[in-house]
Amino acid sequence: MRTQVAIIGAGPSGLLLGQLLHKAGIDNIVIERQSGDYVLGRIRAGVLEQITMDLLEQAGVAQRAHAEGLPHDGFELLFKGERHRIDMHKLTGGKRVMVYGQTEVTRDLMAARAAAGLNTVYEASNVSLHDFDSQQPRVRYEKDGVQHEITCDFIAGCDGFHGVARASVPASAVQLYEKVYPFGWLGVLADVPPVGEELIYANTPRGFALCSMRSHTRSRYYLQVPSDDKVENWTDTLFWEELARRLDPAARERLVTGPSLEMSIAPLRSFVAEPMRFGQLFLAGDAAHIVPPTGAKGLNLAASDVGYLSSAFIEHYRERSQAGIDHYSARCLSRIWKAERFSWWFTSLMHRFPETGEFGQKIQEAELDYLVNSEAASTSLAENYVGLPMKL
Ligand code: APR
Ligand code: PHB
Repeated sequence: MRTQVAIIGAGPSGLLLGQLLHKAGIDNIVIERQSGDYVLGRIRAGVLEQITMDLLEQAGVAQRAHAEGLPHDGFELLFKGERHRIDMHKLTGGKRVMVYGQTEVTRDLMAARAAAGLNTVYEASNVSLHDFDSQQPRVRYEKDGVQHEITCDFIAGCDGFHGVARASVPASAVQLYEKVYPFGWLGVLADVPPVGEELIYANTPRGFALCSMRSHTRSRYYLQVPSDDKVENWTDTLFWEELARRLDPAARERLVTGPSLEMSIAPLRSFVAEPMRFGQLFLAGDAAHIVPPTGAKGLNLAASDVGYLSSAFIEHYRERSQAGIDHYSARCLSRIWKAERFSWWFTSLMHRFPETGEFGQKIQEAELDYLVNSEAASTSLAENYVGLPMKL
């Protein structure tokens, strides 16, 4: 079989790329090792930058996000028992974010791809990449015991942190940068009303907590837990009791608890692979980078990678230009590293690090105090949170 772009992975990166290329008349196939239901079953983050919303618009899949998403103009920082609102809308000259679950983004992209009758191979096994350092790259996979081979012009590795694409590149050709944090996030999804209208990021003596949401009736909460903690150590009751301990009295008063729909622990890491292009193979999204979820940048970085990559492919086919392709990696990495910095900074500011001792604690408190009392510092936080501009 032949196509123009073979996309590995049917997460947000792969599906958004497939949709943008389809809209531009570029033939593509998506090869996914899991089932569609499995992909939808992964609970991930839920804050979309305007840039991501714009790309969903371009892909023709933003309708539900506009109808059901929650536009947010600010969020709150809770520390030393007090909440301080960061007014993003005012500080950034009118920008905001959209609270809308990644699962719903993926669902919308899947539905659009199916409606367009595009080729998506789920439950593909033994996916392998070949000759991407030539002009005739190939992808092989097995489906229902039958071997398949795709010849293509380009391969997009949208297969996440544990995918095959980056693993197919010779180790000598890729530089890895990584930082693993000494804690994880215990997350709960529950059909209970959120504790507030906006997100609350809490730095407390017992550890970090985040109060988020998916709608006015569905909430998403997170607690900082030791990196060796196990979800088996937690019950719904224990979770709600610990969350309540980390909230201020007013929020605690409004907390509505209920049975968890999902409970899981995610490790926190910062990771970047450089470069993101290897001949005719291009990495996008989690295949190339990971951020700690504190700054809500994971999905948004995946989207901006895909924005750059789809533009590069469109330019190649329409204008026979290599410029976008040749600049892809540098353009992505410039934005990625700024988001890595912000995510690392926000994580370092909001979590407890016992190993930094009393001095480290005092520095954290001083930075929080400065942050909420300095318009310049709050503006810096706000402009990173809503998303830095994409320089095409
Ligand atoms: N062959 C085919 N598909 C694969 C392979 C493989 N060898 N390995 C992984 N995949 C699939 C995974 O099953 C997954 O569906 O690739 C997809 C990668 O999706 P994500 O991991 O969600 O990565 P991405 O699409 O870049 O989205 C990034 O997802 O994990 C969150 O926080 C992250 O919000 C960010 C977003
Ligand atoms: C979420 O709603 O899952 C969420 C929101 C903001 C974050 C991280 C996760 O910073």
